[in-house]
Amino acid sequence: MQFSKALTDWYLQNRRDLPWRKTTDPYFIWLSEIILQQTRVAQGLPYFIAFAEAFPTVKSLAEAPEEKVLKLWQGLGYYSRARNLHATAKMVNDEMTGIFPPDYNGLLKLKGVGDYTAAAIASIAYGEEVPVVDGNVYRVLGRYFGITTDISSPGAKKEFTAKAASLMPKGQASLFNQAMMEFGALQCVPKNPPCMICPLVSDCVAFNTGRVNELPVKLKKTKVTNRYFNYLIVKDANSNSLIQKRTAKGIWHNLYEFPLLETDGPMASEDVEQLIKKYDFGFQVSGFRLLNNEPVIHKLSHQHLHIRFWEVITNEIVADAIDVETLKTYPFPIIIYNFIEKHWQLS
Ligand code: ADE
Repeated sequence: MQFSKALTDWYLQNRRDLPWRKTTDPYFIWLSEIILQQTRVAQGLPYFIAFAEAFPTVKSLAEAPEEKVLKLWQGLGYYSRARNLHATAKMVNDEMTGIFPPDYNGLLKLKGVGDYTAAAIASIAYGEEVPVVDGNVYRVLGRYFGITTDISSPGAKKEFTAKAASLMPKGQASLFNQAMMEFGALQCVPKNPPCMICPLVSDCVAFNTGRVNELPVKLKKTKVTNRYFNYLIVKDANSNSLIQKRTAKGIWHNLYEFPLLETDGPMASEDVEQLIKKYDFGFQVSGFRLLNNEPVIHKLSHQHLHIRFWEVITNEIVADAIDVETLKTYPFPIIIYNFIEKHWQLS
């Protein structure tokens, strides 16, 4: 059987029942696609439900305070997506009379909407015949057709896009694109795919030549930087603590964190202690201690963070310090929020 027919038949029998598959409203399709960028369905689903309930219209999202949006996003990672989501809602609401651009090219102009997301929204909401191309699609097409082009090379995107476009059945862009996404997510998975039960196996080049684990080809590895964070958890005379907003560009922009000492490399705790002693808190420190002997390692796509938490005690009342219940209402990176939950439960 021909690729597209077998693929869409598989989809109709195996697709998951997901809320954004029950609508063609571009607002909800857009919302689901932004949430699903770099995120698995299982992880994104509760966030989609929470956002759709808190913000049932683009207007309600546009009018929400940024902190509310970031707080609901907490734990999903890649926080620029949340800021772009909010900026785009404002733009659609304020400059486009609340109506999303009606085609692929118009959608591409929205913040946070790249080729993949624009194609997903245009095909699912409007039936426009533009293929989605991402890691799933590289894998499905790379394996089935035995394409050996390096997917990290400059021409790969164009080649796979043309291939996907040539396979897309007329009038079935939404079905075909979603079938590709679902097939890549559930059947043609990166590691040990269950080829024994795959309906496309008879014509799959990778399977028939024993190269399922070699395709698609990706030569360039992502470069990862290590960073070393020491968070200073102030405990003042009222047991209150200090937090600050991360205003610098880069990870966690506009989220909250504790006062931070970042070092260039891994450092012995005695050396960090010297730095804490010199830290300009603006109050007298009466003592401090390391709370986790083993650094917590938090892996982001391009950075591995090695995080230590230090308690810093003062007998003074610190002016800007806040109690833990207030503190927990701010949007934090999930690694810090989890620490807060654990630490304040114990102390
Ligand atoms: N990944 C990206 N978009 C998706 C969608 N609409 N359904 C399932 N997985 C997805």
